[in-house]
Amino acid sequence: MLSPIRIGIAGLGTVGVGVIKILRDYSNSIEIKTGRTIKIVVVSAKSREKNRDQPIDSYHWESDPVNLALRDDIDIYVELIGGEDGVAKESIEAAISNGVHVVTANKALLAMHGNKLAEASEEREVLLKFEAAVAGGIPVIKVLNEALSINKVTRVMGVMNGSCNYILTRMEESELSYESIFKEADDLGFLEADPTLDVGGIDSAHKLAILSSLAFGTNVNFSGVNVQGIEAISIDDIKHASDMGFRIKLLGVCEMTEAGLEQRVKPCLVPAGSPLGLLEGGTNMVVIETEDSGSIILQGPGAGRNPTAHAVVSDIIDIINGSKIKTFGVPYKLLKNALVSDFSVDAPYYIRLLLEDKPGALAKVTASLGKESISINRMRQYDHESSKAPVLIVTHSTSSESVEKVLKELPKTGVITQEPVALRIEELNY
Ligand SMILES: NC(=O)c1ccc[n+]([C@@H]2O[C@H](COP(=O)([O-])OP(=O)(O)OC[C@H]3O[C@@H](n4cnc5c(N)ncnc54)[C@H](OP(=O)(O)O)[C@@H]3O)[C@@H](O)[C@H]2O)c1
Repeated sequence: MLSPIRIGIAGLGTVGVGVIKILRDYSNSIEIKTGRTIKIVVVSAKSREKNRDQPIDSYHWESDPVNLALRDDIDIYVELIGGEDGVAKESIEAAISNGVHVVTANKALLAMHGNKLAEASEEREVLLKFEAAVAGGIPVIKVLNEALSINKVTRVMGVMNGSCNYILTRMEESELSYESIFKEADDLGFLEADPTLDVGGIDSAHKLAILSSLAFGTNVNFSGVNVQGIEAISIDDIKHASDMGFRIKLLGVCEMTEAGLEQRVKPCLVPAGSPLGLLEGGTNMVVIETEDSGSIILQGPGAGRNPTAHAVVSDIIDIINGSKIKTFGVPYKLLKNALVSDFSVDAPYYIRLLLEDKPGALAKVTASLGKESISINRMRQYDHESSKAPVLIVTHSTSSESVEKVLKELPKTGVITQEPVALRIEELNY
């Protein structure tokens, strides 16, 4: 009989306690799948007194996760504290230097320090696994790293923050403002302690930077992600987009273009009837477009105790079964430094204007668009009682540079009574 695999877990919050429960509840299945039993040896959290939902008294307690990671009686260190720096980073570095495998769900840390951690773990010949870090319960890391291992990925896109999708879909359904639904999501505990991580698009950008590295064999480049959150999305935009057959989603998109690697997180319009358009509430979706296998659509829970903890446990099982897969799919030395593209590939745009209702106003707008070679596909003016007319324009495919220029030019026409809004319409192949 082989000796048990010894685990140390730091962080006993939503995910940490879920991992303890799953390791207990599924101990038989784990033994069948690995031929080994698992023994949780030691745990750590901030407060020893807190009630944890799971009995933990039989485990050793370390108040400092770094000391936990440096112990000589663990084989795998599971980091479930969170945060891009501080004790999460220090303890993972300590575990690696101690020759201990690491499992983490920490996307912020991987987005900021993934390259260095990949180097350290591969040099020390230990594994660093992070299935739960992107889209929680959706096994997207394994799909990219294993199932599609040598497939040429052309684009990855997705809705990777359930809180933003909840806010956007609830706004549409309730016809309430962003501010009201933001408060509702906060009251329900759907937002991070710092909500700008969610609504400001940062959390999605962390995940996108990781996916981009796996998809294109490049170093993780979080600072190369062009990020815009959903804070400025109005109920009017949601209604008008819906009127024109679209839904607004906070999309993360990465693709390798002739101009370099493009990574963007932005509110975009997608066709209402497309899989992304139909995505409701807190659910996540990741679409992987490939040259040889078409588009692969993964949908599921992006967070939550059980789905996320199962993803963590699946990494533990892979380690026990002797996974040899490199951190970001290829040896860290072969990860490329991609040139970052400054502009987005061309796409149609939705432009919303509040126009002075007077003769010649529309002509000035169309002249501005024409100057930037932006041609109009569809235009709609809404009924109005005041002297200001809401106007919507859907353009033909154009460059993001032209749209940026026209947004600066339009207020100079003197016929616009509000900052114009432009949202990209993402073209989907499925
Ligand atoms: N929640 C999800 O659905 C989900 C989904 C995907 C990924 N993740 C990732 O999983 C990780 C954990 O998330 P979570 O939601 O479980 O967080 P959480 O509920 O806030 O739990 C964090 C845990 O870390 C402990 N902790 C904080 N500072 C510590 C320190 N200095 N030393 C030791 N322990 C410390 C806390 O201790 P106390 O309990 O004593 O305060 C708590 O148990 C994060 O990286 C997160 O991004 C979470």
